[in-house]
Amino acid sequence: MAGQDISDFISSKSETKSTSYARLPPARQRTLDRGRLRAILASIVLGLCFVVFQLNTKTLPRSYILCSPDKKIYTVDPHRNVTDCILVHEKFIMGVGSLHDVKKTWKQHSNKNIVVRYAKRGSIIIPGMIDSHGHILEHGKKLKLDLDGLTTPADAVQRIRKYIEERPSLLNDTNIWIHGGGWDNSLWTGWPTAADLESDPVVRNRPVVLLSKDGHAFWCSKKAILLSSPLPETVEGGIIERDKNGEPIGTFLDKAMDLIRVPPWTEEQILEYFNATVTDALSHGLTGIQDAALSPALGAIVERLADENKLPIRLYAMRFFNESEPYWGKSIPKIVGKADGRLTMRSVKIFTDGALRSAGAALYEPYTDDPISRGFFRTPSDVLQRIIPRFLEDGWQVNTHCIGDRANGFFLDLMENLTQHMDVSSSRPRVEHAQIIAPGDFIRMGKLGVIASVQPSHVIDDMGFAESRLGPERIKGTYAFRTLIDNHVSIALGTDFPVADINPLMTFYAAITRLSIYGDSPHGPSGWFPEQRLTRQEALKGSLTPGKRADYSILSKDIMEIPPQEILRTKVIATVLDGEVVYGKL
Ligand SMILES: *[C@@H]1O[C@H](CO)[C@@H](O)[C@H](O)[C@H]1NC(C)=O
Ligand SMILES: *[C@@H]1O[C@H](CO)[C@@H](O)[C@H](O)[C@H]1NC(C)=O
Ligand SMILES: *[C@@H]1O[C@H](CO)[C@@H](O)[C@H](O)[C@H]1NC(C)=O
Ligand SMILES: *[C@@H]1O[C@H](CO)[C@@H](O)[C@H](O)[C@H]1NC(C)=O
Ligand SMILES: *[C@@H]1O[C@H](CO)[C@@H](O)[C@H](O)[C@H]1NC(C)=O
Ligand SMILES: [Zn+2]
Repeated sequence: MAGQDISDFISSKSETKSTSYARLPPARQRTLDRGRLRAILASIVLGLCFVVFQLNTKTLPRSYILCSPDKKIYTVDPHRNVTDCILVHEKFIMGVGSLHDVKKTWKQHSNKNIVVRYAKRGSIIIPGMIDSHGHILEHGKKLKLDLDGLTTPADAVQRIRKYIEERPSLLNDTNIWIHGGGWDNSLWTGWPTAADLESDPVVRNRPVVLLSKDGHAFWCSKKAILLSSPLPETVEGGIIERDKNGEPIGTFLDKAMDLIRVPPWTEEQILEYFNATVTDALSHGLTGIQDAALSPALGAIVERLADENKLPIRLYAMRFFNESEPYWGKSIPKIVGKADGRLTMRSVKIFTDGALRSAGAALYEPYTDDPISRGFFRTPSDVLQRIIPRFLEDGWQVNTHCIGDRANGFFLDLMENLTQHMDVSSSRPRVEHAQIIAPGDFIRMGKLGVIASVQPSHVIDDMGFAESRLGPERIKGTYAFRTLIDNHVSIALGTDFPVADINPLMTFYAAITRLSIYGDSPHGPSGWFPEQRLTRQEALKGSLTPGKRADYSILSKDIMEIPPQEILRTKVIATVLDGEVVYGKL
C-alpha cells in the first residue's frame, strides 16, 4: 500500500514496463510467433501512450525548470528571498534564479534540452512544509472512523455500521475490536451507552471502543466491557458511569478508561491509519512529518517500507520511551536518512508532565483556578534524571514533552548540569510544546541551545481559558513565541494532530495572527498577546537553495501578502517530494 502511488508516478518505472520484453531470455525471444509479436508491439505502443499520458498529468522529467510567472518562489534564503525559477535535477535543487541563470547552470551540467514548466499565475511556490509534532496513527484512526459533529448517538451508530460494512474482514469477524473517536457529548443529551451500540444488527456483539473528542472518555460496547471484566466498584481519578441498578452504562471517564483492555492495533489497521494520515498530509502541502511518539509496531512497518523504497513522505520519528520497559538506547540502532533521505529515527520522546487543559501541566506555583494543584510529572523526576543523560550519551536526540514552567525548568536544570560532562547544544535537545516558561528560563533555553517545538494552533484553542488557569503574570510566558526568538531559541512549528487540525496553513495563520478563525481574540482583533505574533517570514520554514532536496509546495494564493483571513482559504495546488508530484498537479 503505502508508497505505491509514488513509484507509480516515476516515469522510469513505466519505461521499465514497456522495455521489459527486451529482457526476456534469448531463447524465448527467438521463438516468438508473429501474433505474439503483434501483441507485444501493441502493448509497447499502449505503454508509450501511458508514459506520455503520465508525463502530461502527474509526472515530471528527472530534470526540469519550474518558474513562477509572478516571480513568487519563496526561497527563504536571506540572500535572495524570492526568485523566478528553480532548476530541479533528479531529487535536488540544482539552481535558483532567473530563467536565464538556471538555463546557464543547466548547460554547465548537460547539453540536453530541458523542460520548462510554469506555475499558475497568482500561485506561489514555498519550501515543502513539515509538521514538527504529530501523531500519525491516532490521526489516521480519527480520519477513518470520525464521529465528530454527529448530533445523536444513533447517527454515530449508523456511521460505525457503514465503517464495518465497507471492510469485509471486519464484517465477518465479530471478535475484531472497532476503534474510532471524535464523539462530542456536548452536542448530545447524556452519555452514550453500550445499549446504543447493541441496537444495530451489524454493530451489535462486537468489541467497540470510541474515544471522545476531548480525549477524556471512552464509549464502549457490551462486549468490550465483558472482555475487560471484572471491573472494580470505583476508580481513583475516574468514573464508571452506571445505571440505577449499578450496571456500567458504557462510558468510562479519565482514569476509568485504563480499565478497558484495548488490544494493540492489527497490522492491517496500522497500515490503513498510516495511509490515511499520509494521504491527508500530502494533500495539505506537507512533505514531512515528525511523529511525536512512534510505537514499536509502526516503527517496524515504516522501516520495512523504507527498505522497499515505499515511504510516501519524509518521516522523522521520535521513538516512544516507556519507563516500564528496559532501556534500549544502546541496543536499537539509530536511523539517519534511510531510503534516500526519507526515514530518520534518531530521537526519543520522553514525557515529563501532563497537559494544561486537564490541569496536568507541572507548575512552580499552584494553578490560579485550583490553588491546591501544581500539576504533576507523568514520569518520576529520578527516572528522568537517570534516563535522559543516558540517551544523550548514546547519541539520541532527546525530545521531552514539557508543558508547565516546572517541567520546562526541570529540563533546563538537567541540561545545565550536564554541560559539565558533555556538549549539550550539539545534541540538539528539544522541548515538545514549551508552553509555559518562567521569566528567567527563556535566556537559559537560548544559551543551552534547546529547541522549542511549538504548536501555534494551541494558542487559538487555549486562549479562552489559559489566563484564568495561570493568572496575569505566568500568562506572559505562555505561548511566548516572540520571547523565545528574542532569546535566540530556535523554534519548530507543528500541530499535534489529531489534537489540532493537521493543516499547516492554520499553523501559519495562528502564528502570525493569534486570532480565532473568525478573526477575534480575548484581546481584540490584533490578536491574543499580539506582541508575541511571528512575522510571516519567521513562520515560513525550510529553504529552496541549490543542493537542497526538491521538496516544495505550490499554493493558490500568496500567503506572504494576502490579508490573514484569506490564508485559511488558500488551497494546495501541488505537493512535490524529491522533485516528484505526490499530490495535485503542476
Ligand atoms: C493509500 O492506499 C491506496 C489504496 O491502496 C493507494 O492507492 C495509495 O497510494 C496509498 N497512499 C499512500 C500515501 O500511501
Ligand atoms: C525580501 O527581502 C527584502 C529586502 O531584504 C525585504 O524587504 C522583504 O521584506 C523580504 N521579503 C520576504 C518575503 O522575506
Ligand atoms: C461473510 O459472511 C457472509 C454471510 O455469512 C458470506 O456470504 C460471505 O461470503 C463472507 N465473506 C467473507 C469474505 O468471508
Ligand atoms: C509500557 O510498557 C508496559 C510493559 O510492557 C505495557 O504494559 C504498557 O502498555 C506500555 N505503555 C504504553 C503507553 O505503550
Ligand atoms: C542539578 O544539579 C543540582 C546541584 O547538584 C542539583 O541540586 C539538581 O537536582 C540538579 N537538577 C537536575 C534536574 O538534575
Ligand atoms: Zn503530542
